[in-house]
Amino acid sequence: MTNEHYFSPQPSSASQPYVITVALPEGTLRLTTDRGVFSYGALDTGTRLLLLKAPAPAATGNLLDLGCGAGAIAISMAKRSPHAVVWAVDVNERAVALTRQNAEANNVFNVRACLPDDIPADVVFDTIWSNPPIHIGKGPLHDLLLRWLPRLSPTGQVTMVVQKHLGSDSLQTWLTSQGYPTERMASAKGFRLLSTTRATPNAS
Ligand SMILES: C[S@@+](CC[C@H](N)C(=O)[O-])C[C@H]1O[C@@H](n2cnc3c(N)ncnc32)[C@H](O)[C@@H]1O
Repeated sequence: MTNEHYFSPQPSSASQPYVITVALPEGTLRLTTDRGVFSYGALDTGTRLLLLKAPAPAATGNLLDLGCGAGAIAISMAKRSPHAVVWAVDVNERAVALTRQNAEANNVFNVRACLPDDIPADVVFDTIWSNPPIHIGKGPLHDLLLRWLPRLSPTGQVTMVVQKHLGSDSLQTWLTSQGYPTERMASAKGFRLLSTTRATPNAS
C-alpha cells in the first residue's frame, strides 16, 4: 500500500514492520517494510519493472538509489555490483533506517544509506536508479533531479521508472531539454522506464 505521506522526514504513523520476500534475478530479498514508508507491505509495480528491465549497473564506482524507501533498489544494485558503493538517499528518516537494516539482513555491506546532505560533495555517480517521488510536485521534482543529475559521471547512466499517467512523457521531454537526453526503454502496466545520460559535449 502506498502511503500518501511517504516523503515526510519523520512519519507520524506508528511503526508496524511487515516483512515481504521479493524474488529477483540476483536472488530473493527479504525486506522489512513499514508504515510511513513508500510501498508498505509489497514491492511497488514500477520498482519491480525497473529491477527486471534496467541494464546492469556499473560494476565499480559510486551508484545512487535516489529516494530509497525501504531499500529494494539499493540492495538489488549492491548485490549486482558487489565491488561498487551504493548510496541510498531519502528525506524520510524511517526509510533510511529501514534501508540500513534491510541491507544488513540481506548480507549486503556495500550500501550507504543516508540523508541527502550526508553524501560527500565530491562523489559522482556511474549509475543512478530511481523510482522518483512524483507526488512531491513538478517543481520540487525538477529541483531534485537538477540537484543529482549534474553529479552523474560523463559516461554514467540513469534509469528511472515513472507512471505514464503521472507525467512520464513530459518528464522525458523536460529532461532532454535540460541537457539529459532521455529515451523510453520499456513500458508495462502503466509504467515507463526512462534511460537518461548526459548530453555529449559538442553534440548539436
Ligand atoms: C516512489 S518512492 C520509491 C521508494 C523506493 N525506492 C522503492 O522503489 O520502493 C520515492 C522516495 O523518494 C523519497 N524522497 C522524497 N523527496 C526526496 C528528496 N528530496 N530527496 C531524496 N528522497 C526523497 C520519498 O521519501 C520516497 O521514499
